[in-house]
Amino acid sequence: MGVAELTKRLGEAKPDMTRFLVPESFTPFYFTPIYHEFTRAEKLRYNQLFGLVYNEQFVFYESTLSRYLLTPVLENNRYASLHGIIREFRADEMQHAELFSTLNRCIDPILYANSNLNFIQLPAAVHAMWRFFAGRPEWFPFILWLIAVLEERAAYLSRGIIKERDRLEPLMVEVYQAHLADESNHFDYDEALLDRFWYDNRSWVRSVNAWIFQHVFTEYFTTPKRTALRVVDKWLEAFPHWCSRRQELHDALCKLDDDSDYIKSLYGPDVIPNARSQLAAQPEFQRRQSLLCLLGIC
Ligand SMILES: [Fe+2]
Ligand SMILES: [Fe+2]
Repeated sequence: MGVAELTKRLGEAKPDMTRFLVPESFTPFYFTPIYHEFTRAEKLRYNQLFGLVYNEQFVFYESTLSRYLLTPVLENNRYASLHGIIREFRADEMQHAELFSTLNRCIDPILYANSNLNFIQLPAAVHAMWRFFAGRPEWFPFILWLIAVLEERAAYLSRGIIKERDRLEPLMVEVYQAHLADESNHFDYDEALLDRFWYDNRSWVRSVNAWIFQHVFTEYFTTPKRTALRVVDKWLEAFPHWCSRRQELHDALCKLDDDSDYIKSLYGPDVIPNARSQLAAQPEFQRRQSLLCLLGIC
């Protein structure tokens, strides 16, 4: 079934909320000792909330990518040679953002009645920063490495969900399967953008961007921070007897920033093999030792 048809069907569908949405190892608490104190009902609720976060991430990245990066590239005649693929790339990602927001409304119609994003909340200044970077790929091509990493990780997540399909919510499995199939050209699109804006760029621009990538990646894409803590607070609404241990729950998540098993589960060799080897081959990234060590490449 195509993405558009599936999106339409989700409007009427009923999810099976007795099931997990994602494999347990795809959630941060799984890597903390405290997770093993949770009852089945507590694990289920946490997993379902984190599944909503995964879907929000797709809504956020794919709509941000379309509006802030691909649209300005399409509107600029200097990049006319890329316009054919960018048009398809943008149409795909806009449809995918709609697919994942419809899935979240199907799973939790009350939470998503008025907004597509409830756990991911960026301050206006951070939003403006992303818009500024993404709209100038010639100056800020680091963003294309983020896209390459996130797209490869998204494919890994989808394969993981499909592999555990017998334990997971069927609509969730169906959406991730359809998304994976519809993304098959995207690695070529990512490569074309990297060729134009990274490999053909000046050496000093690449160096500065490797530095920016390291900082942005560490700040927003590794340790569970604001979004993961909002999930905990939402989870506590269902299990108020845990409220007295709220700080302990938050601390357990914050400690994951130097947990190598957790980081490996996000960006390990089986998760993003191509992006890792491409990054490690770039002289500008070879100079960013702490980034490579974080990824376990040093
Ligand atoms: Fe997508
Ligand atoms: Fe994509």
